[in-house]
Amino acid sequence: MSGKIWTHKGTFLLAAVGSAVGLGNLWRFPYLTGENGGGAFILVYALTIAMVGIPILIAESLLGRASRKSPIMGMRYLTESHGTSKGWQSIGWMGAAAAFIILSFYSVIAGWAIHYTGLMFSGSMAGADAETIGASFGDLLGSPVLLLIYHTLFILASGLIVGLGIHKGIESGLRFMMPLLFIILLIVLIYAVVVGDAGAAMSFLFTFNLADLSLEGWLQAMGQSFFTLSLGMGAIMAYGAYMSGEASLTRTAISIAIVDTAIALMAGIAIFSLVFGSGLEAGQGPGLMFVTLPIAFADLPGGAWLGGIFFILVIGAALTSAISLVEPVAAFLVERFGFSRPAAVAIMISGCWFLGIATVLSFNVWEEGTIFHTLFGRSAFDVLEFLTNIMMPLGGLLIALFAGWALSREEVMREMATNDSWFQVWQFLVRFVAPTAVAFVFLRTIPQVEG
Ligand code: PFF
Ligand code: NA
Repeated sequence: MSGKIWTHKGTFLLAAVGSAVGLGNLWRFPYLTGENGGGAFILVYALTIAMVGIPILIAESLLGRASRKSPIMGMRYLTESHGTSKGWQSIGWMGAAAAFIILSFYSVIAGWAIHYTGLMFSGSMAGADAETIGASFGDLLGSPVLLLIYHTLFILASGLIVGLGIHKGIESGLRFMMPLLFIILLIVLIYAVVVGDAGAAMSFLFTFNLADLSLEGWLQAMGQSFFTLSLGMGAIMAYGAYMSGEASLTRTAISIAIVDTAIALMAGIAIFSLVFGSGLEAGQGPGLMFVTLPIAFADLPGGAWLGGIFFILVIGAALTSAISLVEPVAAFLVERFGFSRPAAVAIMISGCWFLGIATVLSFNVWEEGTIFHTLFGRSAFDVLEFLTNIMMPLGGLLIALFAGWALSREEVMREMATNDSWFQVWQFLVRFVAPTAVAFVFLRTIPQVEG
């Protein structure tokens, strides 16, 4: 056992919030909400966070802390010490594979925000019309070279932080970045509420009419609750391995979920206030942040500057999530093969960089009608995203089942340090509720393979 631990009792919370808050909150949550009719989507999302997300969050950090190892080695240790089936070790392997895939495309998308930060501060967007702004997004996606440059910059930055170690790199980085990001979000939110249409945003987000929600919307809400809490990918397990024995698993998990949800809602209020204030549409899909929002900023007072700092927020939030995807695999390479940390990080990010090229090419060279599309019927980016959409809930399901059924009651109680009735609530959720919810997602997601 390496005995490596975070410096403070609260660092795990900071690190897990850093991992949780990212493109999922600022980019994905608002556009999914926009596409799925607003309040009803949020209701289902909040329900899954509470009933499925939090219990699995507890389970995943518990597995990390109980093993005090990287996810792959930790699952090996736990299965061997419990004499349970080796099959559970797939939790570690699948998590590492999913982290690898997610980082490869997460970095490309975070790279778009680098481009937009430059565009905003240069003032070239100020006063531009919708057509020009839409075209500039098209130009960015059409340029493999630009996309690759930004992807490279972003992944190098995350590698640098993790390469410096869990204390000098990850902890110091988070302690500097997280408060700053929160302040920027507050500034953007206040600006948006003042210059935009906050009333329209609030009624869009908080009018709950379940009839508005398609079955597809239910499933997307559930998928999003895994993605946004960084579940099932080993990130939380890897950070949990360094968690102080004194921190409460339950309280920490609930805090992570509350902060993550609050930030998604704050981003949603800010973005929709601006979008509605400029008379634009909510249901623009992934282009909501990169086309609709810049259009709104373009004709607002001080919009170029506010837009610029907003995209810095996006880059920073993505960075604190990306490092949590590097850590589990890098820690494994150190533990298993004795690599130095910088070497392990270099291996991980080179691999992800390389795979990221597939996402880069998806938007240009391999577009519809070209070879990749013809072979697979969808873009490489869609294939990768689809794979992780399966791996995340599957990983979460296995974690819930392993923690719920394979671990002994004494062991869980020792880690959870809670009373009997809370333990029973948690156990019921991980044993029955979470698996049922995930099974429901699968029954609908898998048939898409043919579509
Ligand atoms: N939770 C992050 C977000 O909402 O942007 C994304 C993410 C980070 C997913 C780390 C998974 C992960 F392991
Ligand atoms: Na998130």
